[in-house]
Amino acid sequence: MTEELLSLPVPSVPTGDRGVAWLRAHVVRFSNGADHARRRALTTKLIENVEVTSLDELATALGLPGSLDDIAQIAPCYQPHETVTDAADAAVERLAGAHDEETAARIGLLVQAWAATHAFAERLRTGDPSPAVPVTRRAAEHGVIEVRLDAHPFGHGPHACPGRALATRIAKAMAFRAMHAQDEPLVLPNAWDFASAAALHAAGFRAIGTTSLGVAAAHGIEDGAGLAGDQAVRLARLLDDLPCPVTADLESGFGQDPAELVAGLGVAGVNLEDGRPHGLASPEEQAALLRRTKDSAPGVFLNARIDTHWLGVALGETEERARRYVDAGADGIFVPGLTEPRDIERLARLAPLNVLAQHRTPKELGDLGVKRISTGSLLFRAALRHTVATAVAVRDGNAVPEAFGYEHVQDLVSRGTRSDAG
Ligand code: HEM
Repeated sequence: MTEELLSLPVPSVPTGDRGVAWLRAHVVRFSNGADHARRRALTTKLIENVEVTSLDELATALGLPGSLDDIAQIAPCYQPHETVTDAADAAVERLAGAHDEETAARIGLLVQAWAATHAFAERLRTGDPSPAVPVTRRAAEHGVIEVRLDAHPFGHGPHACPGRALATRIAKAMAFRAMHAQDEPLVLPNAWDFASAAALHAAGFRAIGTTSLGVAAAHGIEDGAGLAGDQAVRLARLLDDLPCPVTADLESGFGQDPAELVAGLGVAGVNLEDGRPHGLASPEEQAALLRRTKDSAPGVFLNARIDTHWLGVALGETEERARRYVDAGADGIFVPGLTEPRDIERLARLAPLNVLAQHRTPKELGDLGVKRISTGSLLFRAALRHTVATAVAVRDGNAVPEAFGYEHVQDLVSRGTRSDAG
């Protein structure tokens, strides 16, 4: 039924030669028939090879750098049933240039992206399952009708969203960033394969990290030697299918330039550490690496792991490195081994601080200023121990510990759990 309604024409808009009226009259969204087909091809082509993780970068990729303030003025007045403000008309005129169809398509793409992607990101952050765009409109015989989009959050039929993949990537990155600005810290469990990540997401965790020990050990490779790069990258790509933000532990790049590794990986965040297989990178070297990585994928949350603390180096050096890394573009700092309340409070002043799970509750760590708590390799080690304990119980004729059912695991990896389902 919804599908049939969505295949009806969209309500037509009057012609216009200036401002929002001009924009509406020239974009794919409010066109039917041959105009729609031509504008749809143009619009789709404009985002064909665009791989970005923020709306800012999207604006630049569409040839309208720095236009988001104007787009924010236009977006609330874009739909034909909405009242147009003078500010919105002026914003369109600033961006419209030659007033040709292609410029309208570029502006239209950003306007479509603006409100929907913000709303989608907020739903990912809070776990709200309602559609980011709840209704659309169609021209029926008896007039304009509203069509609910619960079953088709990205629309359906000729006007279905052409920006779905792009929007999902950007919204995940936006949501993940916002998860570091909450009152209570983000509790981020670290997975080592698709099933462990999907199970954690299904249990209500809204973002998933990876564990380098888990990924390496699961493939029979030692951790920390930079040898499990292919496996880590393959896992990051696989987890792109999950309907939640994912952050990948990339150690120090596994012998590759992380700037090249991160761009195009599709993740919402990455961890890069200053530890090296045989010691520590100099602060200058690490800061340069972080800067390059940030420049290559500005929307990706860049978490700088500082390895001085657990190697016993004085806190002053950890603090100095944290400052340098934040100056170089790090969005957050991760200090494994940090447990002293005074030290936590000191470092939490510099940037969103990530610590490993410890005996304090998330609330207690949040009160000290912590913004993210990761489980590191804990879950992988727990799973390994549970596996062995279960096998031993079977062998010894003891009660077998509980496990997930077969169907549950099948459900976790079925298409229905993927972000492109629907
Ligand atoms: C990068 C971000 C986005 C871009 C570039 C984008 C672009 C577009 C464009 C150009 C259209 C009009 C297509 C046509 O009329 O043929 C459209 C439609 C649509 N978009 Fe998006 N969009 C984005 C994000 C989103 C998000 C986050 C959602 C919701 C979760 C969404 C939901 C929709 C829906 C439901 C329609 C169909 C409206 C209808 O059938 O009346 N979009 N999008």
